[in-house]
Order: sequence, then structure tokens, then C-alpha cells
Amino acid sequence: MKTKYLAPIVFLIGIYLILSALDNIGIVKISILIINPLYLAISTLIFATAFFSLEKLGVHNKIKQIIARETIKNSVHIVNVEGVEYYFVGFRVIGKETTEEDEEDIDYSAEMQNAINALSKHQSRKVKVAVVTLLDPEPGSAILFFAKKDDVSLSRFYNEALYLKHVIEGMAPHLTLEEVNLKTKPMIPLPQLVGTVVYAGYISQKKFEVVADEQIDVGEFDIELGHIVGTNKSIGIRSSDVFRHIAIFGATGSGKTNTSALLAKKLYEKGFDVVILDWHGEYHNYLPNFNYYGNESLPVLNPLGSKEMRAINVADMIGDVLKLTDPQRFALQKGIEEFLLKDSNADFKDLINLINTPDFAEKYDIQKNVILALVRNLSYLFTGMGEKLISKKGLSYKDLAEKLRGGNVIDLATISDLRLRRLYGMLIVQFILEYFLEFRPKDRKLYLVLEEAQNYLREENIIIERALQEIRKFGVGLCIVTQSPTTIDPEVLKNTNIKIVHSIKSNQDKRVVADSMGLTSAKEKIIDKLDVGEAILVAPNIKKEIIVKIDKVT
Ligand SMILES: Nc1ncnc2c1ncn2[C@@H]1O[C@H](COP(=O)(O)OP(=O)(O)OP(=O)(O)O)[C@@H](O)[C@H]1O
Ligand SMILES: [Mg+2]
Repeated sequence: MKTKYLAPIVFLIGIYLILSALDNIGIVKISILIINPLYLAISTLIFATAFFSLEKLGVHNKIKQIIARETIKNSVHIVNVEGVEYYFVGFRVIGKETTEEDEEDIDYSAEMQNAINALSKHQSRKVKVAVVTLLDPEPGSAILFFAKKDDVSLSRFYNEALYLKHVIEGMAPHLTLEEVNLKTKPMIPLPQLVGTVVYAGYISQKKFEVVADEQIDVGEFDIELGHIVGTNKSIGIRSSDVFRHIAIFGATGSGKTNTSALLAKKLYEKGFDVVILDWHGEYHNYLPNFNYYGNESLPVLNPLGSKEMRAINVADMIGDVLKLTDPQRFALQKGIEEFLLKDSNADFKDLINLINTPDFAEKYDIQKNVILALVRNLSYLFTGMGEKLISKKGLSYKDLAEKLRGGNVIDLATISDLRLRRLYGMLIVQFILEYFLEFRPKDRKLYLVLEEAQNYLREENIIIERALQEIRKFGVGLCIVTQSPTTIDPEVLKNTNIKIVHSIKSNQDKRVVADSMGLTSAKEKIIDKLDVGEAILVAPNIKKEIIVKIDKVT
């Protein structure tokens, strides 16, 4: 016979024996009963058996369940949403108190994910489950169960809610669900649009206040980027805001280049000319229809070709790239100025020769060792590929700007020397900005993408800083893409109005980005939890930052 049946029988026999013993010896003799070893042994055995049988039957679990169910029962509320009555119960998801030393290692998000996976397999069509994550004022999740009052009985509703609560707690051993007390007004509304604030990948150990779900106002946009995470709601930016510049941040592999290529493609379709300075050679695959320049087909540039290109700008650019000292920069600037006065077909090699004369050093009172160091640096840059790419035979800034109509990918990765790659990229930026500042062409809008922008914007780059403020009026939108925002000049970050932030792991980078976007520390914590292609978007058409999933470029 199964112990399940045996236990109550033994229990009943025990009771019977005790009662008959009491009857035989009378209540007054109770002390004898207790001290009599035989009776003592029998009653101990009986009580142990009884306890064992209760345990076997799971009675104390049942008692716990009854208490839990009663608690839930008291937490079930009836709410009225647009004339329909719902049973409703809500729980805060909180971390259990833990004594585990490696609390840091507990992956609450993974446990939450397991619980959500289990819930999504839940078959009931009547009782609905919603997971709501609030980002404000503290990030944290709540789980809500609700059902139309007409569809289920109250007892079915709370039995099922209880079952689901057990499922969740079973899947997520370090999480617990705490009933939300609805006694205080105002009542928690049912989320009308479950999802606008959903980000189930993140939960907090802290309790949070459940507040009304806001309908997020995404405003008008003409460049669609993807949808709000957790919803089907499309989201995008306005092409007119592109002139207020864009910054795309994210760690390696987080989806920056995909996002940047998507924007480039859409803006090209809207009539923008697009120039991408492709540091790693990644864009040609994303944008095969764009003009491609690499290796032999890279445009040859002539920074000394016109008087409008200020000698000091060229000297500064070369100075930045070669990390020249101030006296070396001065010598270079004077050299370029003299060189520009000469109306010859001379080339950079000739510039080097001009600087490397005793007359030149004497004229400007420059020490010999300054000249020597400068000449060594310049010779290194202007031999080999450098000599080919930067030459008097090349395009002036006007010619280049004319050439770069339509969509263009300039594959800088085909320039193996990093200093030359930087200088060449900076020259192109400089050429384009000079062209737009001077000619202010009414018929052109240009979108300029600086991939790995820290290569151009590392030091205080006066040219770009100035340009960022001025060029918006003249139809140039700049997009800076980088994995290390800390190395970008804060002035530049301040001048970008659209920010698309993919997952970032480094705390320092997270802080810089959060500061530049005015994110609360709570929201800053979300930045490293984003999946590939997900990003926090801030743009003038959106009132509040939103977590979006960017479309893949097709
Ligand atoms: N929105 C997206 N949806 C789906 N997959 C994406 C999305 N964005 C990127 N991916 C995929 O993720 C991978 C990395 O994307 P991407 O190259 O854009 O990252 P990245 O941030 O530019 O990385 P890196 O710093 O290494 O250049 C690619 O395989 C890409 O196809
Ligand atoms: Mg990339």
C-alpha cells in the first residue's frame, strides 16, 4: 500500500490509542501516562508518524499556498478600462535578499528572461500577462495579470495568477514578486499600450513606483529608422534635423555601421549628396550602389592649389597628424605661405626642399634642428602613397566638391599608413567644408559621415568645431560615428542634436554619453544592456529618449 494511504491510517490508530488510554486511566492519571515509559514510547512514535504523514501529504505547503492565494485574492482589483471591467493583479519584481557573496554575479536579467520565456508559452487565452519595465524614476519591472471580468470567474483568475506567479518564481530563483498595494489612490491603470516603456532585458533589485504608462510622442519624421522596442510603432528622425548633426556611439559589433549606412541610404534617397569617410572599409558591402573610391581610384588632393585654402589650416592639419611642435608648425606654415606665392607646378617634395635651405631658416630665424625634424617628418609622409594622394596635380577643394555628388564611399582602409590615412581624411573634410562655406550652394545638401571620428576630432580641432556651428546654415550635416566617445571633443558632442547610442560597455564612455544626452544615472545603466541593433535615440522630434530597434540595411 502506498505510504500516502498508510500515513493517515497510522495517524488515526494513534489517535484511537491515545483516546482509549485516556479513557482507561482517567484524566487524573495523566501524569502516569507521561512518565510511563511504554506510553511515552508509543505516543512519541505516534506523533512522529503523524508529523511524517502530514509532511508527506504536503500539508504545510498547502497551508502556505492557501495563505498566498488569500493574499493574492486580496490584491485582485477590478479596474475599468474604457468601459470594460477587468480583474487585475500587479506585482513588483524585486531581487530576493541574498547572503550569497557573489551577489554581483547573479544574472537577474537572464532569470527574468527565463521567466518571460516560460510565460510566453503559457496557453491561457483568458488571463493576460504584461511585463512592464519602468525607466523612471528607477528602472525596474512589474508583472501584471489581467482578464476581462466577463471571461473568467474570480476564483479561476486568482488560481491562474497564483500558478503563473509560481512559474515565474520557479524560473527565476533570485526574483520574487511582491503584490502591489492598490489601496492608495490613484489606481494603477492598465497599460494601454504595453510596450512603450517596456524593456524587459533589465530589472532592478530596488522597488519602484508604478506610474501611469505614457503614450510616447514620436512627432513627425520622414526618415524611418526602425521601431520602438517592444512595440510595432515606427520611429525615425526628420531630414531637416540632419543639419544639426548626428552622433552614433557604440562598442564594437553593437550596430553602428549598420545604423550609419541606413541613414546614408535614406538621405541619399531624399536627395542628399553623401560622402562617407570609411575608416575600416565596411560600407561598400552595405551600400554597393554608391560610388566607390579606394586604392588607385582615391581622389588625388591638392591642398596647395588655391590661395583660398589658408596656409595656417593646412599647416595645422599636417601639424596635428605629425604631432609637430610649435616651432615646427611655424616653419611649415611659413613654408606653405612662400610656396603658395610661387606660381609653379612645384609639389610637396619642392616644399620640403624650400624649407630645407639655410636661407629659409635664417629668414624666419628658425633653428636648424627644428628644420631637420620637420623635414624628416614631411619626407616620411610625402613619399610612396602620400606623394600620389597629395599632389599639386590633384583636385582643388572646388573640383573635389563637384566630383562628390550622389552617394560616395571613400575607402580609407586602402591607405595603410595611419598618419597618411588621417591626413587624407582630414583634408577631404576640410575641402568639403571650405567649399560649402564659400559657395553656399543653394541646390545642394550634403551628408558627411566620419566613421571612427576620433581620428579627426581628437585634439581640439578648431576647424571642425567652427564648422559644426556654421555649416548647418549652408546645407552640410555631419555624422560622427565612434566607439570611444571619451576621445571626442566635448564641444563637438554638444553640437550634435541627434544621438543614437548603441550598447557601450566601458563605464567612462557611458558616463560621457549619458552626460551629453542629459540621461539620469538610472538610464545610463541601460546602455550596456542593449542588444545588437538596439539603441537609445535622442532627436529634436522626440520629446524623451526612446529605446529603438534599428532596421537592418537591405
Ligand atoms: N539593426 C540591426 N539588426 C540586425 N542586425 C544588425 C543590426 N545592426 C547590426 N547588425 C549586425 O551586427 C553585426 C555588427 O554590426 P555593425 O558592423 O554595424 O557593428 P559596428 O558597431 O559597426 O561594429 P565595429 O565597431 O566592429 O565596426 C553585423 O553582422 C550586422 O549585420
Ligand atoms: Mg563599424
